[in-house]
Amino acid sequence: MTQRKGIILAGGSGTRLYPLTMAVSKQLMPIYDKPMIFYPLSIIMLSGVREVAIITTPADQEQFRRLLGDGSQWGMEFTYIEQPSPDGLAQAYTLAEDFLDGAPSVMVLGDNIFFGHALPDMLRAADSQASGGTVFGYHVAEPQHYGVVGFDADGTVNQIIEKPSDPPSNYAVTGLYFLDGEAPQRAKSIKPSPRGELEITSLLETYLVEGALDVQTMGRGFAWLDTGTHGSLLDAGNFVRTLSLRQGMQVGSPEEIAFDNGWIDEAQLAERADLFGKTEYGKYLRGLLSK
Ligand code: G1P
Repeated sequence: MTQRKGIILAGGSGTRLYPLTMAVSKQLMPIYDKPMIFYPLSIIMLSGVREVAIITTPADQEQFRRLLGDGSQWGMEFTYIEQPSPDGLAQAYTLAEDFLDGAPSVMVLGDNIFFGHALPDMLRAADSQASGGTVFGYHVAEPQHYGVVGFDADGTVNQIIEKPSDPPSNYAVTGLYFLDGEAPQRAKSIKPSPRGELEITSLLETYLVEGALDVQTMGRGFAWLDTGTHGSLLDAGNFVRTLSLRQGMQVGSPEEIAFDNGWIDEAQLAERADLFGKTEYGKYLRGLLSK
């Protein structure tokens, strides 16, 4: 199988977070001690994927470049792609068509935060599927704000609907999509929804009707967090703070994952640790070296 490539979609205006997002792109705002985009980036890294396209608005691209660079500090390779206007998530696949060059992909939305025991195993399993797609269903209290899956009597997924007023279940489709190399072609064939967007759910539907979509459920032990409102942004920060202080382990550290994956060696990790000096993060990275 061709090596899978990654996409982080960090476009959009984050209008619900005004006035904060008038100064800085939403995906660069902090979730406790890291920029938001580090969390979806860590999901791609845990999937074993090193080559990643970061899609942003033209105006925001510079800020993302300053933070993330070319990826070599983590043994990765980043490409930056502009999304001139936010016309829907499925558009990411046509924008990234040349970058993907026929390869399968893992796309994660730049504001989605995942945490859970054995999550890396789940990601590696999805990565190993050569054809079709894998998405993740997560039980939420208010499914009407998301893409929602409907089930048959025997539990088979029979529909995916975008923001239904009358949701067929409580299972939202999270913003993490493993799709095969056909995704850009398929994305071109879908029509805009009534709200004028190329919906990711319409793209997923093309796989579903062919029996080529696997919907994995993330159970109770997982956290899939929203960052779309001022309150949920703060809640996500508190969640990360609670876990990392209690366990003495970082959540979403690109340095740690790159080191664990063997993408950077001890000398490179030491260099990163030095960059962060006497900070808690610097100390944590130095601690990994002595383990
Ligand atoms: C988008 C997708 C939706 C998905 C959600 C996950 O919604 O359209 O299907 O469930 O992301 O975060 P949006 O963020 O555009 O409201």
